[in-house]
Amino acid sequence: MRTEVGIVGAGPAGLMLAHLLHLEGIESVILEARTRQYVEERIRAGVIEQWVRDLLIETGVGGRMEREGLVHHGIELRFKGAGHRIDFADLAGGRGVTVYGQHEVVKDLIAARLAYGGEIVFEAQAASLQDVETDKPFIRYRKDGEERELHCDVIAGCDGFHGICRPAVPEGVLSFFERVYPFGWLGILAKAPPASEELIYSSHDEGFALLSMRSPEISRLYIQCHPDEDLSQWPDERVWSELHRRLETTGDDWHLTEGPVLQKGVTAMRSFVVEPMQHGRLFLTGDAAHIVPPTGAKGMNLAIADVRVLSRALSAFLRQGRADLLESYSETCLRRIWKAQRFSWWMTSMLHRFDEHTPFDRRRQLAELDYVTSSRAAATSLAENYVGLPMEQA
Ligand code: FAD
Ligand code: DHB
Repeated sequence: MRTEVGIVGAGPAGLMLAHLLHLEGIESVILEARTRQYVEERIRAGVIEQWVRDLLIETGVGGRMEREGLVHHGIELRFKGAGHRIDFADLAGGRGVTVYGQHEVVKDLIAARLAYGGEIVFEAQAASLQDVETDKPFIRYRKDGEERELHCDVIAGCDGFHGICRPAVPEGVLSFFERVYPFGWLGILAKAPPASEELIYSSHDEGFALLSMRSPEISRLYIQCHPDEDLSQWPDERVWSELHRRLETTGDDWHLTEGPVLQKGVTAMRSFVVEPMQHGRLFLTGDAAHIVPPTGAKGMNLAIADVRVLSRALSAFLRQGRADLLESYSETCLRRIWKAQRFSWWMTSMLHRFDEHTPFDRRRQLAELDYVTSSRAAATSLAENYVGLPMEQA
């Protein structure tokens, strides 16, 4: 098989790249290891930055998000027995975020791609990348027990953190920057109307908790836990009791609503960046190139930012024969990525319990929360990062 851009991975990065390339009149084929059902049901991110919402709408794939997504103009930070609202509408020039599941974005992008006749090969496991240092690279993959090849002009590595594209770059070319956190998030999806209209980030002495949602009927809740937490130790009653303890701290009669737990999982947390994000004709995007801890909800948004830069660069290269944008792809993306890394690390450090913290460190954390919620300058900094820095700054 031959195409212009060979894409590995049908997550938000690979699917959005294929969509943007299609709008530029560029052909691509996506190879995805999993089934369509698996990727459409994988529960992950839920918060979409303002510019990503605008991009989905502008490019014709935002219709369902506009109808079903929940637009939020603030979040609450809860600590020391009180809730404090960060008002995005006021602090970030009327911008906000949209709460809409990543798997819903994935469903919308798959439907759009299939509707315009684009190709996604599901259950196609990319095994190796060949000749990426030439102008005729190709991907070897397995489908239906057979080994096949996808030949292309350029390969986009959109295969997530555990994919094969980043490891395909020869040793010594890439530099890695990493921080692993000594905790993770235990997340549940519950059939329970969210007890708050806006997200609540709670910093409790026992650890962090977050109330989020997917719809007016479905809550999404997280608690800080060990990174390798054994789920069998967390029956639903224990999860709820810990959520009540960490979220119901305001001393009023606000209560978390409970309901049947539909899904439960643990995510370890790390910050990770690879530089550069390109080698020869291979370009890495999204989680294949960088991971942020989830606090602040930047992962999916960063993946979309990368492919927006890449689609424009590929269009200039393949249609106008201009290589400059492609050559500076990594540099352009990394400016935004490092700012998102800083923000995610900062939110994580401010809100979580660190076992090694002394009483001094805890007082300092609480002072930081007090400052962020009482200084307009500090609150503005949080708000503008949360709703998403403008793409023009990238
Ligand atoms: P992925 O979504 O990982 O997609 C990669 C795809 O490649 C997968 O479909 C995989 O099956 C496929 N693949 C892998 N290897 C191969 C192979 N060899 N051959 C073929 N296909 C392959 N981000 C936010 O922006 N907001 C949030 O609120 C948020 N919350 C999160 C909460 C949790 C609990 C978690 C786990 C993550 C969260 N994130 C959030 C992060 C976000 O989910 C990721 O950053 C996002 O999925 C990255 O998209 P991607 O397309 O780069 O990678
Ligand atoms: C969600 C995830 C996040 O990481 C976050 O900061 C806010 C919300 C969510 O899955 O809803």
